[in-house]
Amino acid sequence: MKYEAKPLPFLKPLTGISEKTMMIHHDKLYVGYVNKRNEIEEKLATADRSLANATYSEYGELKREESFAANGIFLHEYYFNVLGGEGKQGGDLVKAIEKEFGSYDKWLEDFKAAGMVARGWVVLAYDFNDNRLHNYLCDGHNHGGIWGAMPVVVLDMYEHAYFIDYGSDRKTYIEDYMKNLNWDSANNLYANVVKMMPKA
Ligand SMILES: [Fe+2]
Repeated sequence: MKYEAKPLPFLKPLTGISEKTMMIHHDKLYVGYVNKRNEIEEKLATADRSLANATYSEYGELKREESFAANGIFLHEYYFNVLGGEGKQGGDLVKAIEKEFGSYDKWLEDFKAAGMVARGWVVLAYDFNDNRLHNYLCDGHNHGGIWGAMPVVVLDMYEHAYFIDYGSDRKTYIEDYMKNLNWDSANNLYANVVKMMPKA
């Protein structure tokens, strides 16, 4: 079954992040990951397993790029999903953040700091391994993810996400990202996580 690119889940212009950036980000880069994953899966169907080799083999390279392309798709879908809002925090997710981090501001301070140092992604995730919220950092699509953790609020810190509009000013990009955050979408994701939580 082929993967299909999802349309951007919002139509409104964003604060600070230009249409040009979003067009390149969604239509070229994200759609590119979808196409590459399909291509990889097609090639994996016939790749010669008998030549599998850790230094180089067609099968090995396809398996490496399979996780890169897959996470490239899903992390971008999470990222686009929480944009297009008004940045007004609220709901059960904020209550859970306050409980875990002590206050919303303490969480935000850490989330922003993670954004300042990330080379790839910052992910507020609910980790089913310890049943807690964490701000995780991934320097690449397939480096740094924690198995069993569900993303809720995802921030793309690859340079393509901000360089056209902000140059090297990551701080303002992160501030604007928070202004564009759709807390309804984030709360919907968190509600799905709550349904999967172990019953006390
Ligand atoms: Fe991106």
